[in-house]
Amino acid sequence: MKPNELFDISGRVALVTGASSGLGAHFAQTLAENGAKVVLVARRAERLDALKKKIESTGGQAIAVEADVLDRAAMVRAFDAAERAFGSVTILINNAGITHADRAYEMTEETWRRVLGTNLDAVLYWAQEAAKRMIAAKQPGAIVNIASILGFNVAKGVAAYAVAKAGVVQLTKALAIELAFRGVRVNAIAPGFVVTEINDEYLKSRPDMTRNIPVGRFGETKDLDGALLLLCSNAGAFMAGSTVVVDGGQVLTITGA
Ligand SMILES: NC(=O)c1ccc[n+]([C@@H]2O[C@H](COP(=O)([O-])OP(=O)(O)OC[C@H]3O[C@@H](n4cnc5c(N)ncnc54)[C@H](OP(=O)(O)O)[C@@H]3O)[C@@H](O)[C@H]2O)c1
Repeated sequence: MKPNELFDISGRVALVTGASSGLGAHFAQTLAENGAKVVLVARRAERLDALKKKIESTGGQAIAVEADVLDRAAMVRAFDAAERAFGSVTILINNAGITHADRAYEMTEETWRRVLGTNLDAVLYWAQEAAKRMIAAKQPGAIVNIASILGFNVAKGVAAYAVAKAGVVQLTKALAIELAFRGVRVNAIAPGFVVTEINDEYLKSRPDMTRNIPVGRFGETKDLDGALLLLCSNAGAFMAGSTVVVDGGQVLTITGA
């Protein structure tokens, strides 16, 4: 089969959480460029509207739905809006996430709950809703959870984030074994350091950090496109419960961070 047939996602309906910036905005554009109709979800509505216009200006199709991923009523409304506009969602990119910088031994309960809630609980809720609807619509589906190499290793100051991402890796496996035979494949991507507007300044001020990345540079959002399309399309038809690490080899090294 030719690559363009193997990785084809044209006409599919893809919902991306955290589409208002960074990786999520890029994932939405990549999916739209490859022919998917995209549903953009986040809290910052004006950013989603701008991205919707951008996608439409290049011939793509998108709707913007303002929602907090922890608001389950808003989640149901987002899937309903997607169905009204485009039909059943058959690709979910569970991407919304937040970071923090707090030592574990003095972290507040509020931070712990907020980070675990957004980065792990919401991944379960959105996957549950997507899977229920994919099964009811009798349509094969793909759920892609965005983990992190911090799901495998830890660094100082990111305990809640690392625990949540380790949970995402395990949750991906648990959902996959329950859903694969019903036609819903659940997999994950674990990016390394990828330059987005959120960390651009910080990463550029720390070029020494690339010494710990065997490929010798930070990632760019486009470095994730291959894994994204693999997991969403028939190219990944026999993949279930995998976490694809895209990190330039960083997770393999010992840094003592
Ligand atoms: N960049 C990296 O180096 C890197 C590496 C590994 C993993 N990741 C993971 O990749 C994902 C995206 O990260 P990023 O770098 O693109 O960060 P980002 O630019 O800060 O984007 C985070 C996105 O999540 C959304 N979000 C956060 N809380 C939300 C909530 N309660 N409800 C709805 N949306 C919410 C934000 O939208 P609103 O604020 O508009 O709601 C934003 O669109 C995260 O899961 C992150 O952990 C990133």
